[in-house]
Amino acid sequence: MAPDALRIHDDRLHEDIEKVLVPSAAIAARVRALAIAIGEDYSHADGRLTVVPVMTGSLLFAADLVRALPQRRMRIQLTTVSSYGGTHTATRGSAIVGALPKHLEGHHILIVDDILDSGGTLRLLRSEFIARGAADVRACVLLRKRIPSALSTPCEYVGFDIDDEFVVGYGLDYDDLYRNLPYVGTLRKDALSR
Ligand code: IMP
Ligand code: MG
Repeated sequence: MAPDALRIHDDRLHEDIEKVLVPSAAIAARVRALAIAIGEDYSHADGRLTVVPVMTGSLLFAADLVRALPQRRMRIQLTTVSSYGGTHTATRGSAIVGALPKHLEGHHILIVDDILDSGGTLRLLRSEFIARGAADVRACVLLRKRIPSALSTPCEYVGFDIDDEFVVGYGLDYDDLYRNLPYVGTLRKDALSR
């Protein structure tokens, strides 16, 4: 198999998807550009950078992003924040589920999340990490909705600004489905009500 074979994704529309908003090639190009910017900003932080992917939505994004960063020593510590439960598509507030990342004192923290919506997740994690002695905290999201709550939440790195629609794919789910799709798209109405 050619080394790049796994990077060529199948963007054919799944039957539950209405339209593709961000194709896989656009995601890959944007991830590379974000990684260049982040790599430059953290050039001083060798061994003192902790990347905190917010599970489960940032699973694919974080995996691609860290591999595109310069090969320096960094830690990866997962955290889980619940906001939407199951089939709800409107926010219900955020809570950290399970253990918080450890040994944050003096570390530069980069939170990686799939999408910035109400801003609850980023605000919560930022204040927790600062309270735990992080040297500084920045955030990187693949998507940000063009709504006041998202645009007013501090976030240093943003992949794409999108309209206020419910999206799935590339880690984002509806009832834990569709995270595996290689693109970001909107769901058909009949798939939402099923
Ligand atoms: P926030 O805390 O309201 O900013 O929302 C962040 C979390 O809500 C994300 O990490 C997602 O898990 C979830 N979320 C928000 N909007 C969407 C969407 O359009 N599709 C899927 N999940 C979403
Ligand atoms: Mg989710």
